[in-house]
Amino acid sequence: MVTNSGESVEEFTMSVPKIKLNTGAEIPAVGYGTWQLKPEDAVTQVAYAIKEAGYRHIDCAWGYMNEAAVGEGIRQSGVPRSEIFITSKVWGTWHRKVEACLDETLAALGTDYLDLYLMHWPIPLNPNGSHPIIPLRPDGTRDIDTEWDIKDTWKQFEALLDKGKVRAIGVSNFSQKTLEAFLPHVRTVPAVDQLELHVYNPDHALVAYLHAHGIVPQAYSPLGSTNSPIIQDETVKGIADRVGLTPADVLIGWHGAWIASGGRVVIPRSNTQSRIASNIKGAAAAAKALTAEDIKTLDGIAATGKQKRLVTPPWGIDLGFDNWPQ
Ligand SMILES: NC(=O)c1ccc[n+]([C@@H]2O[C@H](COP(=O)([O-])OP(=O)(O)OC[C@H]3O[C@@H](n4cnc5c(N)ncnc54)[C@H](OP(=O)(O)O)[C@@H]3O)[C@@H](O)[C@H]2O)c1
Repeated sequence: MVTNSGESVEEFTMSVPKIKLNTGAEIPAVGYGTWQLKPEDAVTQVAYAIKEAGYRHIDCAWGYMNEAAVGEGIRQSGVPRSEIFITSKVWGTWHRKVEACLDETLAALGTDYLDLYLMHWPIPLNPNGSHPIIPLRPDGTRDIDTEWDIKDTWKQFEALLDKGKVRAIGVSNFSQKTLEAFLPHVRTVPAVDQLELHVYNPDHALVAYLHAHGIVPQAYSPLGSTNSPIIQDETVKGIADRVGLTPADVLIGWHGAWIASGGRVVIPRSNTQSRIASNIKGAAAAAKALTAEDIKTLDGIAATGKQKRLVTPPWGIDLGFDNWPQ
């Protein structure tokens, strides 16, 4: 198989940068996101992403309700499991029994270990509530398991690491405030913090804090998620037109500059094969095309009045993030 830039998929795959985790393991800097993929699409697109587009990193979650299809896509790619970095996440209703959630994920994906396992949100939810994913109280607010401490969730993550069922453990949606209360009490520093990061929500201070603690930031919703406003941004479009790339290339390329300067992982999602292929190229192409001035401009877009978080479920508690809508 030859990619549209002439090299084999294998050659291209080798050229995707890898970021070292605090475990010593390496994670491919560009992964394929699977949120909101319908199972019937997930099989085809995951197989395509791996076999044809050269991804070797797939981002999954129990809460996405499509892991069996993702696993089937991985198998259909024909690429050995050992060559693919697989991440999944424990959902809030499972904080009291993390291993049981992991076992469901492993069975669905058809593997006996994960490369990385994340706490999806620092929010335990009532495991016996009104709904298995989003339990609600009678007043319609989210049914948070207030009796449970996430440090006890993490102890179960550490036990899974000791057992070898997961090779690295990390967190997601942890703000600096959450980490400051968490890190002094844990035996294992999370390998990553998976966060909403894009040019409208660059979270520079949090990224610097993570780097200072050896925690790799993983950028989710790098393109601005479904119905993205940032793909339409005039500044992004202007840079894209000047360098002859698409806005998506520029948005992923902005992360590419951060990948090159010391550690970031980016996990774009698409259900369109041409985009699945171009997104993994975007980081490399734009890293070459974007100037230091472009990166500075992109770094500063949010501060021009465009700061906006796009993934803000109504949890009803303070997660400690700046700019979280009230
Ligand atoms: N830890 C967490 O709480 C969390 C939260 C959100 C996301 N995530 C992870 O991060 C991944 C990515 O985030 P996301 O799914 O929110 O969104 P995203 O990757 O930022 O954006 C996806 C959207 O962008 C469009 N798109 C993709 N490539 C494009 C291109 N080249 N040109 C124009 N449009 C393009 C897609 O449309 P088409 O499908 O039509 O191409 C889709 O609507 C998720 O899939 C998931 O794995 C994690």
